[in-house]
Order: sequence, then structure tokens, then C-alpha cells
Amino acid sequence: MSNMNDDFTMSYMDSCDKMPLLLIHGFPLDSSMWELQFQDMGDVTRLIAPDLRGHGLSETTDKYDMGQLAADCAGLLDSMGIHVPVVVCGLSMGGYVALEFYRRYPERVAGLVLASTRAGADSADGKKGRDEMITAVSKDPQTIANTMLPKFFTPKTIAEDEELVGYVNDIMLNNSAEGMISALTAMKERADSTPLLAEIAVPTLIIHGEEDQLIPLSEAELMLNSIPDAELAIIADAAHLPNLEQPEPFNDAIMDFLEMLTGDVHEHHDHD
Ligand code: MLT
Repeated sequence: MSNMNDDFTMSYMDSCDKMPLLLIHGFPLDSSMWELQFQDMGDVTRLIAPDLRGHGLSETTDKYDMGQLAADCAGLLDSMGIHVPVVVCGLSMGGYVALEFYRRYPERVAGLVLASTRAGADSADGKKGRDEMITAVSKDPQTIANTMLPKFFTPKTIAEDEELVGYVNDIMLNNSAEGMISALTAMKERADSTPLLAEIAVPTLIIHGEEDQLIPLSEAELMLNSIPDAELAIIADAAHLPNLEQPEPFNDAIMDFLEMLTGDVHEHHDHD
């Protein structure tokens, strides 16, 4: 499906008419990284998974920041006529966008799911790494898949699950060099969301793969300790993409969270 908001056409997937859950993918992926969530939960909750600007089937533009990506997501909800608060789930770079979405539109967020992500900005070393990656992608877009794949999954999955690894590799190869460079620049320049954490006034589920090497578990623990109403689900035998590597515990954590939230909403109404 695709949708026009202003002058930008955004591609997205949508599942049913229940409680909306916006699923924001990581870098350098697209909405199809949520395939196993659509399969398992698509009829229980309304999953909406955009391809962020510069990724998948959405358009690429030259330069943008996290604010633009968050605004694109809000624009998508607007153009779909969704004005009720939604649960916003972002994985890794998607988490950076989710935090930015909360900063800009707190009234549109019923709950947050922060998966395989961190609140901090890039360190000086991290920024240097982005520049090196930009140079590498400009020369050969394929290098990004070769660099990222070993970090996305546990060594066991890399060795044993050729189909899953191939699936993610193909998603990465479909992204253009231009789109990847814009995203790397946006991540490099993103603001520090650490000060925002204490102000998050909605229930927050943090999910993290126990073996994540790209973003260590300590980053999830930091968010857990700083967000007033947060819980942490640690997924065993998973690295950076626990939604694909261990979909059962990942989906269970989200379903429990949604159940708790929907209960909260009912309680709220009872008191009105
Ligand atoms: C991601 O998985 O979205 C990225 O690796 C996050 C990052 O590079 O900071």
C-alpha cells in the first residue's frame, strides 16, 4: 500500500482494525522485517509498518533528520485517519525515531516499545564509524550487508538458519546507497534522548536480545532505570533482531504489554 502526505509518498503495510501498533524498522531494513509479527499478531492488533523515507518502497530524499522520519510517521497516521493514541514500537534506528515521535507528539502515544535501541546520541567514535560507513557505501552498497549481517544474529543462527539470514540480506540489498547514506547521516546527527527518558509518561516496554553486540544490554538497562513506568524483556538466544530470531518470546512480550495497556485504558474509562 502507499499513501500521499504532502508531497511525499510513503509505502506501508497494515493488518486489521484493532488497537494500532506502529512498527518502525531498523537500519538498513524496511517494513518486511516485521513479517513474523504480521503472521502471528496481525489479526489481534492493528499493525502498521511504514517503510521509512529512504528505505524499502518509500521514496528517498537527499537529506533528513530523525524529526522528519517521526513527522512522516505522524503524517501516515493522519492520512489513514488514525487520531487516537497508538502504541509506537521502534527497533534500533526505529527506536531513535520512536523516541523522537514521543518528543514531538506525546499525546499521540499510548505506549512505547523500545527494542534493541538506545537513548544516547552517537559518541565521537560512533560518528567516525558513520563516516567510514558512508564512504564504504558510496563505493559499494553491498558492504553494508556484509558488515551488518554478522552483528544482527547470534553465531548459531548465522551458521544454521540460511533462510532467515538470506531474507534479511535481501532486504538490505534492496535499499539504495542514497537512502542508506541519508539514514547514516540522520543517525550520526541525532539528538541525545537521554534527558527525555524521565519525562516519558506512558507505559514502556523495553525488549533486548541478550547477545546483542551492536547495542549492548546495558543501554536497555539504562532506559529501564530512567523511564518512570518501564519493564524490560530480555530475549535469550537473540542478538540485534530478536523479533526475527526469537519471534515467540518477542511477540509474547508485546501481546502481554498490549493486554496490560488495554486493561489500563478500560480502567481509565471506568473512572471517568
Ligand atoms: C539499526 O539496527 O537500526 C542500526 O544499526 C542502529 C545504529 O546503527 O545505531
